[in-house]
Amino acid sequence: MKQQLEQIRSQALAALDAAETPAALEELRVSLLGKKGALTAVLKQMGQLSPEERPIMGQVANAVRADIEAKLEERKATIHAAVLEQKLAAEAIDVTIPGDAVVMGHEHPMNQVLQQIKDLFVGMGYTIVDGPEVELADYNFTKLNTEEGHPARDRSDTFYFTDDDSVLLRTQTSSMQIRVMENAKPPICILAPGRVYRKDEADATHSPMFHQIEGLVVAENITMGNLKSALVTVMKQIYGQDAVMRFRPHHFPFTEPSCEMDMQCHKCHGTGEVDGAVCSTCHGEGWIELLGAGMVHPKVLSGCGIDPEKYSGFAFGMGLERMAMGRLKITDLRLIFDNDVRFLNQF
Ligand code: DAH
Repeated sequence: MKQQLEQIRSQALAALDAAETPAALEELRVSLLGKKGALTAVLKQMGQLSPEERPIMGQVANAVRADIEAKLEERKATIHAAVLEQKLAAEAIDVTIPGDAVVMGHEHPMNQVLQQIKDLFVGMGYTIVDGPEVELADYNFTKLNTEEGHPARDRSDTFYFTDDDSVLLRTQTSSMQIRVMENAKPPICILAPGRVYRKDEADATHSPMFHQIEGLVVAENITMGNLKSALVTVMKQIYGQDAVMRFRPHHFPFTEPSCEMDMQCHKCHGTGEVDGAVCSTCHGEGWIELLGAGMVHPKVLSGCGIDPEKYSGFAFGMGLERMAMGRLKITDLRLIFDNDVRFLNQF
């Protein structure tokens, strides 16, 4: 029996030394020490021994079990360390490989111009306000003195949401004039930049979505002189002190009188010609249209609960893309929205 035990010990230790995985170790543990294991099988024969032999064999058997258990633990630790080592090696990150450079972006050129315009107006006491792009026809048209049937309300120009044409994507930021006047008492002095939408095919100068900047000043004794000085001051800051401006009569339903403001073409200096050819910047006009403006119509004021006998006001609306194109000498509007970094990096 002693021989049997010694054999189990030496075979077990050798087998344990050869085991390479946690699963192999577990299999050995069961086959050696388990209920049906080799050692248990030998111990079951103890009953056949004489009472003198029994304790001696018991001691040997215990020593064999202890040796096997010790070896098992030792191998477990070794294999565990090896597995960990392998895993670490497989998952290692080589911190010496150069990383991908992070490309720093910058403000979009249109936002650069918007920020400049906002800064100029804020410097003159204007407050920036924001409002909904999904708008009521009431605010976009009716309360701006643009009755049902007016060509500006045409379905072919406007994105309507409802069959009764009462909800739409605003076609102009002028809707903000009403929203502000309905909620504030004069003096009012606001600037409302934002997106507007019209059913236009995209080309070099049109886009179904573009940006406008609306301005509104309402107080006592506001005159056309205030309108002109505010706009000329801002435009000279943007286009240079020697920029030449003109105001030309025009019609808008919500202002009376109404005008458009033009800037003399910086390329042909108002002649419409460059080296005998038609100027490509102003298409021979000599002037570039900047914005629409006027004195707020008395009907619009009274519709918002403001007494036109006591208060007067001016309003203006300019196209931001047009301003940015003029300021940055961009020739195609679509470039502003394409977001091609080769274009954006130039500004
Ligand atoms: N909303 C006009 C447009 O989209 C521009 C405009 C004209 C705005 C005159 C005004 C204004 O505030 O007074 O064509």
